[in-house]
Amino acid sequence: MNRDEILRKNKQYIFPCVVNYYTEPLVADHAQAQYLWDSEGRRYLDFFGGILTVSVGHSNPKVTGKIKQQIDRLQHSSTVYPTEQIVALAEKLAQITPGKLQKSFFTNSGTEANEAAVLVARMATGSFDVVALRHGYSGHSQLTKSLTAMAPWRKSGVISVGVAHAISPYCYRCPLGMTYPGCGVECANDVEEVIRTATSGSIAAFLAEPIQGAGGFITPPKEYFKIVFNIVKKYGGLFISDEVQTGFGRTGKKWFGIEHWEVEPDIITSAKGMANGVPVGLTIAAPEVADAFKGMTISTFGGNPVTAVAARATIEVIEEEKLLENADSVGGYFRQKLDELKEKHTLIGDVRGMGLMQGLELVRDRKTKEPAPEATNQFMERCRSNGLLIGKGGLYGNVIRLSPPLNIRRSDVDEAVGLMDKSLSEVAT
Ligand SMILES: Cc1ncc(COP(=O)(O)O)c(C=O)c1O
Repeated sequence: MNRDEILRKNKQYIFPCVVNYYTEPLVADHAQAQYLWDSEGRRYLDFFGGILTVSVGHSNPKVTGKIKQQIDRLQHSSTVYPTEQIVALAEKLAQITPGKLQKSFFTNSGTEANEAAVLVARMATGSFDVVALRHGYSGHSQLTKSLTAMAPWRKSGVISVGVAHAISPYCYRCPLGMTYPGCGVECANDVEEVIRTATSGSIAAFLAEPIQGAGGFITPPKEYFKIVFNIVKKYGGLFISDEVQTGFGRTGKKWFGIEHWEVEPDIITSAKGMANGVPVGLTIAAPEVADAFKGMTISTFGGNPVTAVAARATIEVIEEEKLLENADSVGGYFRQKLDELKEKHTLIGDVRGMGLMQGLELVRDRKTKEPAPEATNQFMERCRSNGLLIGKGGLYGNVIRLSPPLNIRRSDVDEAVGLMDKSLSEVAT
């Protein structure tokens, strides 16, 4: 099919709610390492990685090679038969996740991973209420849409029984109008206020992203989660760290984002970058939590042998090529270059993130901080024309999300920043 035919059929046969980027959608054709080509043969430097999912480069041969071997050996068995592949992955995950997380439940997406986490937390605690954060994104099912706290992602289908939201640690737009560090991280105490006013007084879980992804890479002050953790424990809840975006080295130095905040979660959920693009969902819990799951469950494709091999191969590449260190050092360099870009372009109001998860919040005016969604769209379009793929997020549609593969080099950063500089100069302000 040519580009026009693909776009025509996309319109005719795909739910229109599945939105595409750009006024003229980009038809992806093939990709290799940090590059993606469109159907017209144009090459782009990919600094979004299919929404933080291509963690070790497109079609990484160390991952695809193992996938191909596994497809020819055993492609599917379902969980009614244990396999070497599923237990080997689960063992590896028990080794690299923090604290006493040990038992895994595999599914196919971050949405399902969060569904399972909340379900098992309710069974393990005997409580029902869950506290999540405003500006959070948890998935597209009814429960996870209820956990999500951004109106555009909550249309219809939301059943908010047993879900309450605390304010986000969004320093750039502090909901309390305060400034860090003088604020004393007052926002953390809102979790206690919410538990005491909007729940039954005891909770099953608190669920949050270590850095809010779709919310616009909102990065909390370093003390925030420690304070929240103590509150959650005081009210009997489990701490669920949603690492769908921050997991598997994305934030640099550590495997999981929550480790930067020195909190030991009771459950971690993940997906996206865990298998470099092969659909996967992970809910990993402490044994006493996992053992509390009553009754039977099944996820037909969960822990599929091909998926399990892809995830383990991805983890091995991250280990062998020291990508936690690379994400930290190249991420630090990237951050420095983005801070320099902010000095030059007043459209950039804030630079934030960790490792190779960096965001730019674009504003019409630095004083008023009025969001600049139109300029954000223009910037996206200009970057695309100049050969760079970037992502977007934030409640106001004004945050640029930058999440290249973890194995990029400084030269890739230089190229991307050069293209962003040029594109920013082309945005009409
Ligand atoms: C933090 C977070 N949790 C959960 C999800 C849902 O994952 P999925 O789209 O794989 O269902 C996402 C997706 O963007 C996410 O960013």
